[in-house]
Amino acid sequence: MGWGDLGAFGEPSKETPNLDQMASEGMLFLDFYTANPLCSPSRAALLTGRLPVRNGFYTTNAHARNAYTPQDIVGGIPDSELLLPELLKKAGYVNKIIGKWHLGHRPQFHPLKHGFDEWFGSPNCHFGPFDNRALPNIPVYRDWEMIGRYYEDFKIDLKTGESNLTQIYLQEALDFISKQQASRQPFFLYWAIDATHAPVYASERFLGTSQRGLYGDAVREIDDSIGKILNHLQKLGISENTFVFFTSDNGAALISAPKQGFLCGKQTTFEGGMREPAIAWWPGHIPAGGVSHQLGNVMDLFSTGLSLAGLQPPSDRQIDGIDLLPAILQGKLIDRPIFYYRGNEMMAVRVGLYKAHYWTWSNSWEEYSKGIDFCPGQNVSGVTTHTQEEHTTLPLLFHLGRDPGEKYPLSFASDEYQGAMERISLIVQQHRATMVPGEPQLNVCDRAVMNWSPPGCEKLGKCLTPPKSDPKKCFWPH
Ligand SMILES: *[C@@H]1O[C@H](CO)[C@@H](O)[C@H](O)[C@H]1NC(C)=O
Ligand SMILES: *[C@@H]1O[C@H](CO)[C@@H](O)[C@H](O)[C@H]1NC(C)=O
Repeated sequence: MGWGDLGAFGEPSKETPNLDQMASEGMLFLDFYTANPLCSPSRAALLTGRLPVRNGFYTTNAHARNAYTPQDIVGGIPDSELLLPELLKKAGYVNKIIGKWHLGHRPQFHPLKHGFDEWFGSPNCHFGPFDNRALPNIPVYRDWEMIGRYYEDFKIDLKTGESNLTQIYLQEALDFISKQQASRQPFFLYWAIDATHAPVYASERFLGTSQRGLYGDAVREIDDSIGKILNHLQKLGISENTFVFFTSDNGAALISAPKQGFLCGKQTTFEGGMREPAIAWWPGHIPAGGVSHQLGNVMDLFSTGLSLAGLQPPSDRQIDGIDLLPAILQGKLIDRPIFYYRGNEMMAVRVGLYKAHYWTWSNSWEEYSKGIDFCPGQNVSGVTTHTQEEHTTLPLLFHLGRDPGEKYPLSFASDEYQGAMERISLIVQQHRATMVPGEPQLNVCDRAVMNWSPPGCEKLGKCLTPPKSDPKKCFWPH
C-alpha cells in the first residue's frame, strides 16, 4: 500500500473508515518510511531492526538493484540474524505470522526456525497459476507443513479478482488473539496480508464496492479487517494492553494502484516508493488524535517492540531502528536520518526536512520501453532518470516540507544548499565509514530449490520432482 491510500492521509474517496478511526483514536505518523522500496528486504529489516545491506537482504550482482525472494532464490534470512520474535520469546511471548513471510523458503529459513511459534500463510508472493512442471504453484503453510497450494486449494480468480484469502487471514488473527487472551499469555502477531499485491484480490462482499477499482476493493477489505481486529481486542478487554501498529512494506505498485501523490512508486527511492502510511494505536496510553512528525522507519518496530516487552536490543551488532516510545508517548522528536537504499547503494538520505539524492534512477530505458514504468505520468527532468545517474559529489537536494513531490531541486549555489549539505555530508560520511555490509543473500538462483516438495506434501499427494540443480546468478533488471 501507499501513503495516499488512506482517508486519514487525504485520499478523497474516504474508503478507509476503520484505519481513519484507528488514527483518530491513536497517532498518525506523517514521515514514516520503509527500509527498502521492495518487499523482502523491508520485511527482513522490520524483523531484524537492521538495514537490508547489513542483514544480507540485497544483491551485489549489479549496482543498485532491487532483489527479493522469488521461488528460485537460494538465500534467505541468515541464522546469525536475531529476529524480533526470537527475542520476544525470552519475555514469554507467543509469536505468530499470518500471511507472507518472504525471508526465504528453504528449510533453514522457515519462520518457526526464526522465533515464530505459529505460521499460517506462504513463503512467497501469490503469483500464478503455474503448471507444476516448469514452475510449481506456491505452497500455503500451517506451521511446519504445507496444507495446500495457491490456485489449487486457495483460490484466486484472476478474471474477477475474487479470493477469500483476506477473510481467511482475518479469521486466523481473531482466533489467535482469542486463544492468547484465554491462556493469558502475551503475544506478538505479525499480520502480513497481501491483497494489494499483484494479482490484487478481494472477496465477493468487497468486489466492485470501491471508487478506485479492484485495488480499492482490496484496500477496503483490509481496512474492514483491521476494524474487526481492533474491535476484537476491545471486546476481549485487552486493548489497553495491546500495542498495534499499521504500516506497509513498500510504496504502492503503480501498475495496480491508483496514483498516490508522491513522486513515483514501489521499486524507487523517491518518496512514493518508501514513504508509508503509519498509525500507532494503544488506547489509554497513546493520546487520541495525535499527529507525529517523527522520522520513523519499519526498523523502529523492532526496537519499539523490544522496549514494550522490557527487553534491550542486542548490543553485539549495529541496530538501525530506534525506540519510538518517547515519540509516541511523550511527543518527543528524535533526530535521526532516513537512508534510502536500492540494493547495495545508498541512493538518498533524509535529514530533517531535507532529502539529498546521491544517485537517481527509476528504471532502465530498456525496461521502460517494454512498458514498465515506476513513475507513470511523472517525468522530473534529471530526477526520474532512466540511466543510473551519480550525484555523489553534488547531491540533488529537495526540501520535502515545501516540495514533497521532489520536483524543484535547490540551487547548488544557494546558502540553503551549502548549509544543509554540510550537515548531511557528515552524516553520510559517518554512515559509509562505519558500514559493514552483510553477506549478500540474494545473488544466487536455482530452479531446483523452488517449492517442488515442501514439508507435508506427501500427506497431500502434492510432491513434485525438482529439476537438476543449476545455480546461476539471479537476474535483477531494476
Ligand atoms: C469464497 O467463499 C464463498 C463462501 O464460502 C464461496 O462461495 C466462494 O466460492 C469462495 N470464493 C473463492 C474464490 O474461493
Ligand atoms: C523526461 O524529460 C526529459 C527532458 O525533457 C527527456 O529528455 C526525457 O526523455 C523524458 N523522459 C521520458 C521517459 O519521457
